[in-house]
Amino acid sequence: MNLDETYLSSISVDHKRKFAQFFTPPQLAKYMVEWIIQINPSVILDPSFGTGIFSRYIDCNIDIIGYDLDDTVINYIKPHLGGNINLKHGDFLYTDIDETYDAVIANPPYLTSKKFENSQMTIKEISNRNDIKLSGMTNLYGLFVIEGCRRLKENGRAAFIIPTEWTNANYGTEIKKFLLENSLLKKIHYIDNKKLPFSDALTTACILFIEKKQSSDTIEVIYDNGNTNTHRFYDTNTLMMTNKWDGLFKESSVIPNNYISLGDVGRTRRGMATGANSFFHINQQTVNEWNLSNSVIECVGKVDTMVVNDKFIEDQKNKNQKIWLFKPTDVDKSALSYIRYGESLNLHQRYITRMRNPWYICENLNPPSIFVGVFGRSGIRFSYNERKTIHLTNTHGLYIETYDEVFIKALVVILNSSIVQKNLSDVLRVYGGGLIKLEPKDILDIKIPNITKLSDSNLHRLSNCLDLFHLNETKNYIDDIVRSL
Ligand SMILES: C[S@@+](CC[C@H](N)C(=O)[O-])C[C@H]1O[C@@H](n2cnc3c(N)ncnc32)[C@H](O)[C@@H]1O
Repeated sequence: MNLDETYLSSISVDHKRKFAQFFTPPQLAKYMVEWIIQINPSVILDPSFGTGIFSRYIDCNIDIIGYDLDDTVINYIKPHLGGNINLKHGDFLYTDIDETYDAVIANPPYLTSKKFENSQMTIKEISNRNDIKLSGMTNLYGLFVIEGCRRLKENGRAAFIIPTEWTNANYGTEIKKFLLENSLLKKIHYIDNKKLPFSDALTTACILFIEKKQSSDTIEVIYDNGNTNTHRFYDTNTLMMTNKWDGLFKESSVIPNNYISLGDVGRTRRGMATGANSFFHINQQTVNEWNLSNSVIECVGKVDTMVVNDKFIEDQKNKNQKIWLFKPTDVDKSALSYIRYGESLNLHQRYITRMRNPWYICENLNPPSIFVGVFGRSGIRFSYNERKTIHLTNTHGLYIETYDEVFIKALVVILNSSIVQKNLSDVLRVYGGGLIKLEPKDILDIKIPNITKLSDSNLHRLSNCLDLFHLNETKNYIDDIVRSL
């Protein structure tokens, strides 16, 4: 048995109910900790510590202040705690009320107002402290969320796991107002009500990701149906005006007002259709064998990098990948023998080639600013075409004509961020098994934050991220920037 199981087996059912001791599943605890530690806090508050699951995922260099009302759990867990943890016995709502913290993390007690002592007096007290008017029906967890936020320092972060009922009940209106009007709620992970994440309690769950920092009026909602997470964005007004969030989150996706369509900044077209890729799209070895160096131009096939630059092309050549397109301007002796070879294979009789005159000259194609993958499963790859090369039909081209390089690089970062990637399945067609296939015109419907309204400094900040994209640890950083646009 682990620490939590041993403790739970030592207490009575009544004791467990009285203090609402239902412990956070480890993977959710870890997920919540990830949000708060991104701001490098020095001191973290856990106002309803229990057996301290969150502290197990927090680095021991960070100080943790914990509270618990129950001395049984405190006496049980204290010998197991590290020196960075100061666990105090008391009612969090009434203790050290003027202290503030860099971060707060909590799975507060869930008790209806009928079930906790002096509930009406406490609801009034918390209302007065926070200058709001909470309903007399407010559940104890609602008071912990509001008090927890009040005790956060400016720019601090908090994560709370609580049931979803407040999002659909009248008593939740004042809590919603508090979180939204103060621009505290940045993200909510909403677990479908049919899923019960706590093994020992019939309770629903959502996780609130809070930051005490003014930012855009957009809230990210992760709707978790147990198998997949759908990411959507809602503006504050929509959430304020909707009484029951459950219905809203389950239904259609809402794209924030400040988003635009990719078609507002660019146009798309297919890549080069050669009619016989194996003949026209060739590697360095074939170029050498047929002596075709004067009859080829660079051309990429499938692109699996964030930037197509000199290094990428060099690597492709070194790996003997197909990187050349046979496109003779003057047909010299070598080119002619290659053409005759193609004719011996009857390639000039194919549908596309026989429409051309002569059959072996492919169409002219301008290099796009951005390459777009045609297929994707968990997302679609967008690649900056720094090398200004052309491409085949297994990649689409996105042409951004009226904007400069910094803008285009910033756009590539936005398009590859998980914020936009997670929206793709909402706005584009998804085939069996989650396969996304894009037609050039579908790309124009992709919704992105309004990049045309970004300041020069934000554009530079984003475009500088392009080189960091391959680093896993920068993903959250990039998402945070995109989310805040
Ligand atoms: C839902 S459990 C969460 C425990 C642990 N943080 C976790 O996530 O697994 C809530 C804890 O809050 C404690 N608690 C209840 N009322 C409290 C209060 N007014 N002040 C501080 N702690 C309280 C309970 O004893 C219990 O240990």
